[in-house]
Amino acid sequence: FSLKNYNTFGIDVKAERFVSVTSIEELKTVLRRTYADDLFILGGGSNMLLTHDIQKTVVHISLTGKKIISQTEEEVIVEGAGGENWHDFVRWTLSQDYGGLENMSLIPGNVGTSPIQNIGAYGVELKDCFVSCEAMNVQTLEVIRFNLEDCDFGYRNSVFKNQLKHQFIITSVQFHLSKKNHRIHSEYGAIQAELDAAGIEEPSIQDISEAVIKIRRSKLPDPAKIGNSGSFFKNPVISLKTYNKIKEEWPELPCYKISEEEVKVPAGWLIDQAGLKGYREGDAGVHEKQALVLVNYGKATGNEILELARKVQHDVHRKFHIELEPEVNII
Ligand code: EPU
Repeated sequence: FSLKNYNTFGIDVKAERFVSVTSIEELKTVLRRTYADDLFILGGGSNMLLTHDIQKTVVHISLTGKKIISQTEEEVIVEGAGGENWHDFVRWTLSQDYGGLENMSLIPGNVGTSPIQNIGAYGVELKDCFVSCEAMNVQTLEVIRFNLEDCDFGYRNSVFKNQLKHQFIITSVQFHLSKKNHRIHSEYGAIQAELDAAGIEEPSIQDISEAVIKIRRSKLPDPAKIGNSGSFFKNPVISLKTYNKIKEEWPELPCYKISEEEVKVPAGWLIDQAGLKGYREGDAGVHEKQALVLVNYGKATGNEILELARKVQHDVHRKFHIELEPEVNII
């Protein structure tokens, strides 16, 4: 069974067995029949680089459904099933004028995988609206609720990527969203520029979503057309001391303050300055508009993308002495 249409990089590897589950009962049946070490859980396939065939049972999570759990005059709690497409879910909340997820419009992937790496964009992270998620233990088949404090969210990180890796399948996620007095996050330079260009002074949550969609479309490749997994690397966190040292030679180096001692620097800028933006080897390339995104122009293999990633790490390290860490899961 080819997984080409099930990973946004569009890598053509095969799965030994493939099963798509649309209900909790189906999921339980499959898990009962499958040993934990023969399992490969697949959500939206938007954050993985497949470098070989999968000699396991690939379980594709297609649980769907979205609903309102509770509400007051000011706030609503909504729930999305694990297999719901993230952007469709965001659009559904915005169509009812529920605020909170608009800055994360158009992020590829599914609702159920969004907490794993605490997705985020343009000044907002998933954890800002997260209430809880339900997840099934792949061994005991028990469904457990994880509240915000259980998830240990960090920058593109959570307990599901660490202590609980491969142990749970997230079946649904709940978010708290605003019904009135929406908090607008337009601090991010590119959003403000988009709003200014459109002459919008008091943006609605829908305006923010549209601005985000415009920005993303202008520099991030559409996975339906060019295979990719969004940012391939995390933005590295370095000490202020290191930053100041590098800045002597590269006064333009941007940064975001993290604490009194640490800053985050944009990996895209480093890769760009290393001269790799638009670089291409066969069908594996560094995107020409956003150097942080690696792309598959058609027939690249996972290993060709991986080799390119290593070259990027190598060249950035040689120039800036900074290590880039992949954000994407390499399989
Ligand atoms: N830059 C360059 N050259 C490039 C790319 C970026 O000089 O080729 C510079 C930009 O000019 C800007 C800075 O780097 O000064 C930051 O660029 P950008 O605003 O595009 O954001 P980013 O830090 O590269 C992060 C997230 C994105 C998210 C954007 C917006 C990570 C790893 N990536 O990218 O998330 O959409 O901010 O919030 O944190 C993703 O995770 O898949 C993703 C796309």
